[in-house]
Formats: sequence, C-alpha cells, structure tokens
Amino acid sequence: MHLRFSPSMRSITISSNNGFIDLMKIKVAACHISYRTLFHTILILAFLLPFVFILTALVTLEGVNKCSSLDCLGRRLGPKLLGRVDDSTRLVRDFYKILKEVNTGEIPADLKLSDSFDQLVSDMKNNNYDAKTFALVLRGMMDKFEKEIKESKFAELMNKHFAASSIPKGIHCLSLRLTDEYSSNAHARRQLPPPELLPLLSDNSYHHFILSTDNILAASVVVTSTVQSSRNPEKIVFHIITDRKTYAGMHSWFALNPVFPAIVEVKGANLDINIRKFASILQARSPKYISLLNHIRIYIPELFPNLEKVVFLDDDVVVQHDLSPLWDIDLKGKVNGAVETCRGEDVWVMSKHFRNYFNFSHPVIAKQLDPEECAWAYGMNIFDLRAWRTTNIRETYHQWLKENLQSNLTMWKLGTLPPALIAFKGHVQPIDPSWHMLGLGYQNNTDVENVKRAAVIHYNGQSKPWMNIGFEHLRPFWTMHVNYSNEFIRNCHILEP
Ligand SMILES: *[C@@H]1O[C@H](CO)[C@@H](O)[C@H](O)[C@H]1NC(C)=O
Ligand SMILES: *[C@@H]1O[C@H](CO)[C@@H](O)[C@H](O)[C@H]1NC(C)=O
Ligand SMILES: *[C@@H]1O[C@H](CO)[C@@H](O)[C@H](O)[C@H]1NC(C)=O
Ligand SMILES: *[C@@H]1O[C@H](CO)[C@@H](O)[C@H](O)[C@H]1NC(C)=O
Repeated sequence: MHLRFSPSMRSITISSNNGFIDLMKIKVAACHISYRTLFHTILILAFLLPFVFILTALVTLEGVNKCSSLDCLGRRLGPKLLGRVDDSTRLVRDFYKILKEVNTGEIPADLKLSDSFDQLVSDMKNNNYDAKTFALVLRGMMDKFEKEIKESKFAELMNKHFAASSIPKGIHCLSLRLTDEYSSNAHARRQLPPPELLPLLSDNSYHHFILSTDNILAASVVVTSTVQSSRNPEKIVFHIITDRKTYAGMHSWFALNPVFPAIVEVKGANLDINIRKFASILQARSPKYISLLNHIRIYIPELFPNLEKVVFLDDDVVVQHDLSPLWDIDLKGKVNGAVETCRGEDVWVMSKHFRNYFNFSHPVIAKQLDPEECAWAYGMNIFDLRAWRTTNIRETYHQWLKENLQSNLTMWKLGTLPPALIAFKGHVQPIDPSWHMLGLGYQNNTDVENVKRAAVIHYNGQSKPWMNIGFEHLRPFWTMHVNYSNEFIRNCHILEP
C-alpha cells in the first residue's frame, strides 16, 4: 500500500501496489490537521478502497499547473499560509516515519484486529491506542483485506481482463497532441473560463451541464451539439470533469476551440494510472461500463456545492434539441429526472425492469427489491441538487457496493446503474421519453426517424460512434458535430469519412 501526500497537503492519495485496486484522494484542510484527523482519513480511505471511489474529486493538479512545490504554493497563497504548511510538512514526515516502521515490522500475532471501521473506532476509544498501535492495527486490517480481495473472484476478473482497451488510436493521438500543445502554446493554457466570467460557474440563473469523460473528441461532440441546438447558448455553462491524464489535453481543446457564447470549465479529478487499468478491465468485462469517471456523478452535490439544478450528460450522447425546458420541468420534490426504460415501442431497449439488472436468486436482493420495478436511464438526467443534499443517496450507494463486493459480486454484475437504481429509489421523477432516446450503441434496428426526432440520442452499449464497430447508419448523427477541418482532428486521422 502506498500513501502519497500532495505537497499542498490538500490531498492524500492512497493506493495498493499490486495494481488491481487503487485510488483515493481526500481533501484535507491544510490547517488544523491533527494525527487524529489524518488517521481517521486514512482509515476511511482504507475502507473505501474496495469501492474505487473518488471521495472528493477536487482539482489540485499541481503537476499540470507547475506548482508542485511548497514554495510555489506559498507564493500563491501568501506568507500567512507558510507557517501552517511547515507544520503540516513536519506532521507528514512524522507520519511517514511511523508508517514506515509499521510497514517493515512484523505484525504481532496476538494483535487484535478490528472487524469493521465502527469497531476500530470504538476499540480506539476503549483502549487508548497510541499512533503506532493504531497504525499496526490498520496495517493488519489492510493486509487481511487485501488477501481477501485477492482470493475473491473480483481479483480473478480483473487480472483476466487486464490490458483490454477499446479506445481507438486516433483518440489517443488527439489527447497526446493536445497535451503537447498545452505545454508549448500559451493560448492552449489560457484560463477557462476567463477570470471575469468565473462567478457564472456558480450562478444558478444559468443552465449548468455536467459531463465527465476522458474522451476529448466525445466531449467536444456533446458540448458542440448542445450549444448548436440551444436557443439560449449564452445561458449555457458546461462543467467538464476529466482525469488528471486528460486534463491538459481537454483544457487545450476547449481553450483553442471556444464554443462562444457558452462557457466551459474543465476540472481534473485525480484518478491515477491504476484506475484507468481498472476501468479498462471493467470495460472489457462489461461493455455497458464506460469509465470509472462515471462514478463521479454520485459526488455531484459535493463537487458543485453552490449549484441547485444541473443536467448531467454522458459522453456518448448527441444533443439535437434545445434543452433549456428541462430546467422548467417540475420534479415534484424528487432528485433525479430520468427517462423510464420499461415501456416503449422498442421492446429490446425499452423493456428494462429491476429483474434485468439484479440477481433475484440472491436472498438480499429478493428481500429488498421488486423484480417488476421499472428501471430508468442514466445519460441525460436532471438533478435537483438541493433535494439531493437532503437525502442519503450517496451513503446508500456506497453501502450496496460494499455488500455486493462482500457477496463476491453476485448481487449484480459490474456497472454504475444497478447501485444507482437502488440508491435513487423513491427519488426519481419520470420525464417524457422523447427527451432521451437510448440504445444506439447496441442494436441495429434503431428507427432512424425516431433518432431524427429525439432531443438527445444516446449511443449506450458497445458500439460507440468513435469506434470502427459503430453502426454506419447511426454514426452520421454524431460525426456531423466533428470538425474535420480542425488541424488536430486532421492530423490524428480520426474517423475520416
Ligand atoms: C467469496 O469467494 C471466496 C473465494 O471463492 C469464498 O471463500 C467466500 O466464501 C465467498 N464469499 C461469499 C459471501 O460467497
Ligand atoms: C445469484 O445469487 C445466488 C445466491 O447468492 C448465487 O448462488 C448465484 O451464483 C448468483 N448468480 C450470479 C450470476 O452471480
Ligand atoms: C445495420 O443496418 C444497416 C441498414 O439497415 C446495414 O447497412 C448495416 O450493414 C447493418 N450493420 C450491421 C452491423 O448489422
Ligand atoms: C473548424 O475548424 C476550423 C479550423 O480550426 C475553424 O476555422 C472553424 O471555425 C471550425 N468550425 C466550427 C464549426 O467550429
């Protein structure tokens, strides 16, 4: 297990070194940090580890902004902070020391390991653990835990499908060239949005769209199509969340190709390399699974604390109508405005009930869920974040992922929809199906007339329009938003028509 503290002490990354699970970053205030908080943080992270989550996908991106030293940070934040930073550095050093000791030493055979987080907290209180004992118990628990995971089907599944990636070369090329441009071209680095427009990022009189993806081309199609179809493009604010690897390229793209008059913000989340491996494994395993960035949607209320209502779009959609009326839909106090997928003329795509997603032979599932309950779709959702913040949707989501993991993934297969179906139960307001047409990525009998009429079309499924296996007759609805005269697109030979 590795721990890495960002130089600013604003984040900690925790990762396992065997490469199959990884993650985590948590925001820690630079001041008032104590051993207790730190241990608490590590502990929470340790417990979150199996669920592969972004606790807070905040933008630090020190590397990209070339502000990786305390010095630089000090210059930025002013001398007042420096004293505190020094304290934290010392704290980190001490902490590393303890961890190192504990990491190389034997774990005493009679050490009593706690079975759960709650128990550890109460053991800690009752036995007045010192930092070292605490770290030892923690390590013992981690070891045990890693072993369990290794032995489970989960590890098998990940190892077997390792290294499968279905992102075509052209898309990689685009990302690389744009990243290069970021370092060599000041225009590509210019602030997005410009400083005078920053207040609009949290202005609720604007229409805020959220998109989370590591595919620059797909992001450009979503943004361009949304803006071109809009009757009020000057009201649009796009928040694009991407991973650290793609941040510079994504930023370059939108800095060099502004979608005036709409506003675009690019945020980087700290998913590291192993997450991407993990994502591609999941992708190979489960075609419907697109990227771990998908899990970010469960953190939207925390990521955008000032926003009240947002529309979340997947990166495999094309917007064909003005979406501003979505903000006027009465969600009747519910959190999630979504299209239901259990009725509709297309019986293949629109006949999804809970029984299609869950294993009803599993006693917990059978006891808690109704197999006939109608499913709904991710991909174009209106989220009322005020309502969301009063619920425990995220906790429920985590809880079920944990249970599924503990049952060796027998409750449902991998994916972000099943836990969401449970977590959002009772919080979904169905919206008219014409808003969101599904299934363009997994069948070939999609009705083209319906595609033309739909407000948003969704290439959910295996056949993404940016891949060669995409269905030819459906691809033009997507490619019409790709600018083939753009030099980067041209040089990367992307899907030349
Ligand atoms: C999960 O799988 C492991 C190894 O195959 C097994 O030992 C364990 O009992 C399983 N757990 C459950 C809850 O089925
Ligand atoms: C469904 O759950 C049952 C009971 O836990 C289990 O035996 C079975 O293997 C599960 N099916 C799948 C496909 O995981
Ligand atoms: C999909 O349908 C179109 C027209 O209906 C046809 O030209 C094409 O070959 C089909 N593709 C596949 C993969 O079946
Ligand atoms: C397409 O790219 C070219 C070259 O970068 C640019 O001049 C043009 O404005 C772009 N067209 C659109 C519709 O964005």
